[in-house]
Amino acid sequence: AVTRTFSIIKPDATRRNLTGAVTKMLEEAGLRVVASKRIHMTKEQAEGFYAVHAERPFFGELVEFMMSEPVVVQVLEGEDAVKRNRDIMGATNPAEADEGTIRKEYALSIGENTVHGSDSDENAKIEIGFFFNEDEIVG
Ligand code: CMP
Repeated sequence: AVTRTFSIIKPDATRRNLTGAVTKMLEEAGLRVVASKRIHMTKEQAEGFYAVHAERPFFGELVEFMMSEPVVVQVLEGEDAVKRNRDIMGATNPAEADEGTIRKEYALSIGENTVHGSDSDENAKIEIGFFFNEDEIVG
C-alpha cells in the first residue's frame, strides 16, 4: 500500500550542503517528497520529538546536536514508505550501514548520522503530526 513516513535531514547534512544529495537518494529509492520545510529546532521541539529517548545517556548530546544547525523535515510518500525509507537510510551506526545507503555514503558517526526516519506506521503518524499540519502535505 502507498503510505507515508517522516524524515529529518539532520544538521551534519545541512551543514555540508547535502539536502539535495540526500533527497535525490530518497527519490531514487521510490519515495516522493509531499511536504518539506527547513527549520531550526528549538530545545522544546528537540526534547519533545525525542522524548522516548529521554532516559538514554546520549539524550543531552542528541538534543544539542539537533538544535545546532537547521534541519529539513519531510513527509515522504511511497509504496511501503516506512520500510522503503529505512532500507535506503541504512543502519543507525554508519559503520554497520550497507553499501548504497545514505548513512554509508554520508553519515559521520552514530550521532551525526545524516537522517532520521520513522520506525513504524504508528510512529510515522505521530512524528508527521509533530511538525506538519495536514494542509501542508500535498500528495
Ligand atoms: P534517530 O533515528 O534520529 O533516533 C535516535 C537517535 O539517537 C539516532 O537516530 C542516533 O542518531 C542517536 N543515537 C543513537 N545512539 C547514539 C549514541 N550512542 N550516541 C549519540 N547518539 C546516538
